[in-house]
Amino acid sequence: METETKPLFLREVMEQPRVLANTLAQYVGPGYRLKMGRPPLDEDGIRRISRVYLTACGTSYHAALTARYLLEELACVPAVVEQASECGLHQQLVGPSTLAVAVSQSGRSRETLNALEAARRKGAATLALVNDATSPLARAADGCLTTLAGRVLAHSSTKAFTTQSLVLALMAFRIARARGLMRDTYLEEIQALGRIGETVRGTLAKCRGQVEPLARLLNAHSHLFILAKGSLLPMVYEGALKLKEIARLHAEGYSAGEFGHGPLALAGPDTPVALMAFSDARYEAAAFKDLARSLRSRRVPLVLFAEDGPRKDVELLTMADCAVLLPPAPPRLRPLTAILPFQLLACALGQMKGLDVDRPGGLLNGSRVPDENGGHPDLPAGSPSGAARGALDS
Ligand code: F6R
Repeated sequence: METETKPLFLREVMEQPRVLANTLAQYVGPGYRLKMGRPPLDEDGIRRISRVYLTACGTSYHAALTARYLLEELACVPAVVEQASECGLHQQLVGPSTLAVAVSQSGRSRETLNALEAARRKGAATLALVNDATSPLARAADGCLTTLAGRVLAHSSTKAFTTQSLVLALMAFRIARARGLMRDTYLEEIQALGRIGETVRGTLAKCRGQVEPLARLLNAHSHLFILAKGSLLPMVYEGALKLKEIARLHAEGYSAGEFGHGPLALAGPDTPVALMAFSDARYEAAAFKDLARSLRSRRVPLVLFAEDGPRKDVELLTMADCAVLLPPAPPRLRPLTAILPFQLLACALGQMKGLDVDRPGGLLNGSRVPDENGGHPDLPAGSPSGAARGALDS
């Protein structure tokens, strides 16, 4: 039971099992049929999509990045993700057969709204993924999907991120199905997602105690690199953002493969490196080990995030100065569980440093369009209304 004295940030982290289960229940109907709220396109329109353009800011941008892997892998549709503040280059690819998806917890980020409007002018079908169905972004888009993250009070996004990533995964499944794909795997994938609440609850419980020694190690340093591969990359970008914002630690998420092409020069006894080494692929596991050996030889403090269980890599573990072991999760749920230790770690380290984790102060004034209900535009907002929960079964 969470007590009132806990920071809002931590309370929202611990709410994730419930809000993820609620969000899933909103979209998955009897017989595992997907209900897609207010879709911007009919079945035929979905089949004719030639490209998905996703745009967002900050944490929502990292959620949008998670969708790219699924859209390309499962739905075989090219997907580009553009930071709304950089909106321009990829907009040249936007046209009438593009589905433009703007992701925003508040639905009020100015740049995201502008990027959605720009895509609409190019003839794209527009879809807003928001936590507030009455927000300007929801109203501006042709279609709207909502997360059921509930009221977001902490300044830094946690439960919004995981619920956004979940809805984007369901959207990718929906597009894949409409295009006649995923015939054999659909049921299995949806059933795996169905275990999201218990999987996330178990991961939070297992990681909570483990992040304390890691926070102590990082408290003695000013920089951290966090490395991963493939679909876990957005999670290390997001983990690094949480550590910057909440714990004022300079952290960078980086591709494990790219790290050896230059940035390795920065790693040393004063700059720890964390590896997110979840891998079933043998060549990847070997590459992680080579990297770990090279870091050890440079006396780099090595942190490992890995899955526990009979398949854990004992050799890699023995090389680590500190490890956080997560319960094994189905591959499709791994990205969602992978972010959880970083949220807990950011909170533990921020508190260890005596920081107010509920007021990180990292949001520029004026970045959100004014709230018609009189709220401050730069504060987190949004409890979802039921307006966009109308169901259209697929
Ligand atoms: C970081 C954070 C921000 C927001 C960003 C976009 O923890 O919360 O990076 O994600 O300002 O906000 P929304 O999603 O409301 O458009």
